[in-house]
Amino acid sequence: MKSRVVLPGGTIGILGGGQLGRMMALAARTLGFQVKALDPDATCPALSVVDECITASFADEGAAEKLARGSDTVTLEIEKVALSTLEAVARHAPMRPGADVLRVVQHRGRQKGWLAQGGFPLGPWREAHSAAELAEAIGALGGRCFVKSSEGGYDGRGQVEVTSSADAPTAWQELGERSVVVEAALDLQSELSVLVARSPRGETAVYPPAYNHHEERILAWSLLPGPLPEKVSARATEVARAITEALQVEGLLVVEMFLLRDGSLLVNELAPRPHNSFHSTEVACLTSQFEQAVRAACNLPLGSVEVVRPAAIVNLLGDLWLKEGGPRFEDVLAMPGVRLHLYGKRDARKGRKMGHLSAVGSTPEDALARVKAAATALGV
Ligand SMILES: Nc1ncnc2c1ncn2[C@@H]1O[C@H](COP(=O)(O)OP(=O)(O)OP(=O)(O)O)[C@@H](O)[C@H]1O
Ligand SMILES: [Mg+2]
Repeated sequence: MKSRVVLPGGTIGILGGGQLGRMMALAARTLGFQVKALDPDATCPALSVVDECITASFADEGAAEKLARGSDTVTLEIEKVALSTLEAVARHAPMRPGADVLRVVQHRGRQKGWLAQGGFPLGPWREAHSAAELAEAIGALGGRCFVKSSEGGYDGRGQVEVTSSADAPTAWQELGERSVVVEAALDLQSELSVLVARSPRGETAVYPPAYNHHEERILAWSLLPGPLPEKVSARATEVARAITEALQVEGLLVVEMFLLRDGSLLVNELAPRPHNSFHSTEVACLTSQFEQAVRAACNLPLGSVEVVRPAAIVNLLGDLWLKEGGPRFEDVLAMPGVRLHLYGKRDARKGRKMGHLSAVGSTPEDALARVKAAATALGV
């Protein structure tokens, strides 16, 4: 069946009103769409930029149906949505990406199993359903491991690093889960991500890989295009495109990857939505990831992924707001090529993403130097 096109003037529904939903809503507004969001938080970041915000849990099918009845197409900015909610939406409006994609992605063990079955490159991993199974898995994987909740983790939350089987009982208790994924700690040379957009009409567009630097398991800064060997970029692009095609994603798919010191390239995890590591597309590319998400959700032609100028971003975490004096906005706004992006979050907490800085440069390295200088000037 040929999917209908949703034209400007139509209404887009977004499951989730966090910063990703907010930035998607802003892009949708620029294109002349109306926007509705659904989020459990009545003060979510998208609230002030959408036409209507429904305050409801991501398991509330009635609320999801209400969102869908008032929308021409619905997309999402978070994986943590009940499958029954996605199915409820799909009864009234196209849900992009749909429940089939989310079923695979939102459970870490299922996602890894799906990737392994498809022959996609993964590091050594096991699933465990008890402290005893966890101890066995850690032993089998050689001791140094990352133990991750099967559901709901982000920004390194829902994860613990262990060094031997003896850590299993504490790790199991700390995560308090019915199942966990255990991964051997890998010898990383660098981290990268690839963003693929795929529309219902089957068109795809792939951004160049971003180069990502994490601190304490949270993305600290990211660079686009990632300064990576041509062979690595080409392979990463090929893998990401193949995963998107195999999953038949309608919308965006970000594939996070690890480049190991021995040169091998492995898939870390998937995210079927806009991604922190592509915030730089707002200043680097002809089409931002947020506009691309809107185009894909509406079955419109996808936009050019061309990088006009290399760009870098630095995340601004709540820690900066908690420091004496807080962020020095005026100093940073005086710096040429630097932009400030804030998400409108009221309460700053340690590790909470409050905004980011971006900078363009003549090369990726130049952009990174500029954004780092800006972060220092801001007080990071
Ligand atoms: N097996 C591993 N070996 C080495 N480092 C790892 C491994 N797993 C995770 N890490 C580090 O921890 C970071 C976060 O891990 P992961 O992406 O699984 O977590 P997350 O909480 O889902 O993160 P996100 O914020 O991307 O949703 C990785 O980007 C990487 O820096
Ligand atoms: Mg990750």
